[in-house]
Order: sequence, then C-alpha cells, then structure tokens
Amino acid sequence: MSSPDRCPVVHFDHHSPEHAADPVGAYRKLRAEHPVAWTEAHGGYWVLSDYESVFEAARDDYTFSSARTSYGGEGLSVTIPKTPMHLHIPIEIDPPDFRKYRKLVNLITAPAAVERMLDMISHYTTWFIDRVIEAGEADFAEIIGVPSIVTIDWLGLPVEEWSRYSSAHRATLSAVADSPEFRQAVEVDLPYLSKQMWEVIAERRLNPADDVISFLVQQQVDDRPLTDEEVFAIVDLLISGGVGTTASLVGQTLVWLYQNPDVRLRIKDDPGLLDRAIEEFLRYFSPTQALARTVTKDVEFRGCPMRTGDRVLLAWGSANRDEAGGFENPDALDIDRWPNRHTAFGVGLHRCAGSHLGRAMARSLIGQILERMPDYEIDLDGLVPYARQGVNIGFHKIPARFTPGPRRLPRDDRSG
Ligand code: HEM
Repeated sequence: MSSPDRCPVVHFDHHSPEHAADPVGAYRKLRAEHPVAWTEAHGGYWVLSDYESVFEAARDDYTFSSARTSYGGEGLSVTIPKTPMHLHIPIEIDPPDFRKYRKLVNLITAPAAVERMLDMISHYTTWFIDRVIEAGEADFAEIIGVPSIVTIDWLGLPVEEWSRYSSAHRATLSAVADSPEFRQAVEVDLPYLSKQMWEVIAERRLNPADDVISFLVQQQVDDRPLTDEEVFAIVDLLISGGVGTTASLVGQTLVWLYQNPDVRLRIKDDPGLLDRAIEEFLRYFSPTQALARTVTKDVEFRGCPMRTGDRVLLAWGSANRDEAGGFENPDALDIDRWPNRHTAFGVGLHRCAGSHLGRAMARSLIGQILERMPDYEIDLDGLVPYARQGVNIGFHKIPARFTPGPRRLPRDDRSG
C-alpha cells in the first residue's frame, strides 16, 4: 500500500540483493539525494542515512522508541522487518525503565570486568588457532567462532554448544527469511537452545556459580529480584549482540589486511597500532549496518512528515561514511585516523554495552593471527558473503592458506 503523504519516496530495500551487492554505493546515493527518505519495502519505513539525522534520532528516545510494539508486525523491535525473537532487555526498553536494567548490564561489561576476561579470551583464541595451525589452511569464518565460545562460557551456558548458539543467532539476522538455514534456526535450534537457557537459569538460582547468569539471578530491580523472564531477555540479547558482530568485524578486517599488505605488516610489527586501527575497522566495516526505531508521535523530522507508528531505519554504516560526521576522505581506511567518532556501536543511551568486550576479542584474534599466520593468503574468489547484508554484514566463508606452525596448547586440551 502506498503512503502518498510520506515523502520523499525512494526505491530502497536494505535486504535486497541489489543492496547486498553494493551497500556503500547505495547509501552514498541516498545521502546525496535524500538523507531522510521513505521506502515502501517491508510495509514501509523511513531511512536515515546521513550522520546528523542518525545522530539526532538515536539520541531522542522519546520520539524514536526502541520498545516492542505491534507496529510493523511482531518480533524484535530494532530490526526491519521484525525478526522472530524473544524480548531483548535492555535494547527493547525505553527510558526511564531502561536505566535500571542497563545499570546491571554495565556491571558485567565495564572495562574492569572485561579486563578479568582477557586470559579466557586469549586462551580460546589460542585454542581455535591451534585447531588449524598445523594444516596450513582454514576457513577464517570458523576460526572467528572465538566470540561465540567466549560469550557462551562467560554467560555460564554449556560451552560444547557454542557453535549451535552462534549459527542460530547469526541465521536469524543474516539468512534469507524462509531459507533452510533460517528455518533450521527459528524452528529447531532456537527452541532447543531456549529450553536449555531456561534450565540453566533455574539451576543457577539453586546453585550459583561464577558466571553471568548466576550474577543476574541475584540482582534486583524495583526492590524485587529479576524474574527468570528478565534474566532470559538479557542473556539472549548478550548472545545475539556478542556473537555475529565481532566475528563480522574480524572477518572483514582479515580480508582487507590481506589486500593491503603494507598495513598488515605495520600492525604485525607494531601491535600497539591495533587499538586505533580497530576503531577505524569498526567505522569502515560497520558490522551492524542499521537498526530500527518506532515513531511515538506525529512529528516533522528534517522536513519530513513522520506519523505515530512509522518505522525508522538508522543506518550506522552510512553515517560512518558521511564526511559531515568529521570523517575526511570517508571511503579510505586510514588506521591512523583520530579522532574517530564512529557510530558502529550506535549512539545515545542504547550505545553498545559490549563495546569493550568486542574490542578485546577483536584485538586478541587479529593480534594472534598476525603473529602466528603472518603470511596468510585469502582465496578472494572463494569468499561467500552473507546473502543479506542489511543488518549484519560479513562473510560465511573466508578460505585462507598460510605456512603451518606449531600448536601452543597440549593436544588433549578441549578448551576451558
Ligand atoms: C564489533 C562488535 C559489536 C558491534 C559492531 C556492536 C554493535 C552494536 C550497536 C550498533 C548497538 C546499538 C543498538 C541500538 O541502538 O539499537 C549495540 C547494542 C548492544 N550491544 Fe553491541 N556490538 C558489538 C559487540 C557486542 C558484544 C561483544 C556484546 C555483548 C556480549 C554486545 C552487546 C550489546 C548489548 C547488550 C546492546 C544493547 C545496549 C542497550 O540497549 O543498552 N555487543 N551493539
């Protein structure tokens, strides 16, 4: 159904194959012609593509809500179309209630908490590289299962299930709806894993251990304990937020470093460059390309008539390529770029709670791969990108070869 009072109208669908073929070009055109525009795809939504619009909307939670409503269908409120998922806390909660949940999440994701995880992150990185280092070839898309196993272990879920958690969550955000992969995730894996999560939550109430789920079941909001529902909603978000995003960042970075050997050598010789470089990789690749909000009242936004219930896409990836965001020569990847006020972790109250953990995992992986496989080569023709690149952008397959090297952990180390 067309919406004649919404304008300007553009032909745009962030999930289309045309978009997946060239997301950067598609957003460049939008920014130049109609930085705030309406598209009829997926029942209709506004697309905000320039830095200022994305920044302004993301900081106005009262007009651009993240809460779950029935506008635009059922499911996760921050994707268009909505993806079938359990309620996620705090990403689907608006202020003021938002703050009491985010406060708890901050306690487990703050820099000091991540500092305590560094040995575990390094251990899993070593373990994953050990699995392939003697063979001299690997699919880098698999090695980067590290973010998944770290997240599952940290939460207190069964570590041996890490790959099922990661593939199910990745499929719901990046596979084509109704594809066998999507159906497997939604109809088989997620129900199975959800049941497991409910069981672990109940078990940790009785027997707390040293993990995030045990911590959460002992927390309070409004002077009462968090319910199992709330704990589940937080844990499910931490899996979904932690798994695909960091993997995407590292995968895209490894491919780019192969294509830019001089930069690869600079970082290998001086790992101290990695911190600043990671900020630039985040800006340039924007693993989470775009997320959504819902308009809470009729409003004119940058000359455009928005209506209550309209869905709005905030294109982080596009804002990150906007010169007006302070990025000189935005389509160039410059590892020395500073300051770098990128929007890859979002903007405003909902800015990524896992940013420190994501950075730490990326640092460990990129650092150890450059150290132990410094001559890796990627078979560029064998790269398989995600079919949809609208929310999570990245590669399903990254075939790589390198000079074989020695393992570091005993052969019988089963991780952990
Ligand atoms: C490179 C890695 C990552 C990227 C690019 C990324 C991206 C984002 C973005 C764009 C948002 C904003 C959502 C919004 O405004 O609607 C967000 C929120 C969030 N992310 Fe991340 N993320 C990454 C890693 C992680 C990790 C490792 C975790 C946790 C284990 C995590 C957990 C979360 C949570 C809990 C939120 C919701 C925060 C809130 O609503 O207050 N993320 N992330």
